[in-house]
Amino acid sequence: MYNAKAVITGIVIFVVLFSSPFWVGYLGQNYTKTDIVLPKDEKNCIEDVEFMRAQHMRLLNEWRDEALRKENRVYVSKDGKKWAISLQNTCLKCHNNYKEFCEKCHVANSVYPYCWTCHIIPTEGK
Ligand code: HEC
Ligand code: HEC
Ligand code: HEC
Repeated sequence: MYNAKAVITGIVIFVVLFSSPFWVGYLGQNYTKTDIVLPKDEKNCIEDVEFMRAQHMRLLNEWRDEALRKENRVYVSKDGKKWAISLQNTCLKCHNNYKEFCEKCHVANSVYPYCWTCHIIPTEGK
């Protein structure tokens, strides 16, 4: 068959273009590109940053369950440190610039947590 090269090239281009919504979405998960504002006075989060990036939603669910179902208000991180289980008084105490941290990254990733109908967002990043 002549021109097999062109046909194969065509197929490859087609597959790449056709699947692009999927892998572009996947690359979009690399949300390190958002210029979020990190706390100034603290160097570390509760757990390491990779864990927090990937698992903070699960951690928050776990926290809620611990607090409400088991009445446990203390979280022990992997390095043995103890933290009060509180969205407000722990997470948002360090990350007090909600708009430039949580919200910025969520908007960039089209995530809109419904938590704030009940929980209070700090309004000033001070
Ligand atoms: C319908 C109202 C409501 C919504 C929506 C809601 N919560 Fe809560 N949440 C509560 C109440 C009430 C408590 C209990 C507060 C307490 O006893 O300290 C609580 C407690 C918690 C706690 C543990 C204690 C604390 O003060 O932080 C966490 C963590 C938590 N919620 C996370 C979340 C997250 C994350 C979302 C969104 C995904 C969310 N909640 C959405 C009402 C709500
Ligand atoms: C003691 C202060 C402190 C507390 C409490 C804290 N954080 Fe953090 N958090 C930080 C710091 C500092 C970083 C940046 C760490 C780094 O870059 O190595 C960070 C990083 C993160 C990141 C990753 C950001 C990125 O670079 O991608 C997420 C997500 C996050 N925190 C969510 C939370 C949530 C949710 C809670 C509560 C369960 C919480 N943090 C509690 C200080 C804190
Ligand atoms: C570096 C980016 C980034 C930062 C910073 C960040 N988030 Fe998220 N968050 C995400 C992504 C991405 C998701 C969706 C993940 C998924 O669905 O797998 C998410 C999901 C969540 C969810 C679950 C929402 C749902 O509807 O399932 C909660 C709750 C949440 N984030 C809370 C917070 C809070 C509170 C902060 C600030 C203290 C924060 N996040 C900071 C990226 C971030």
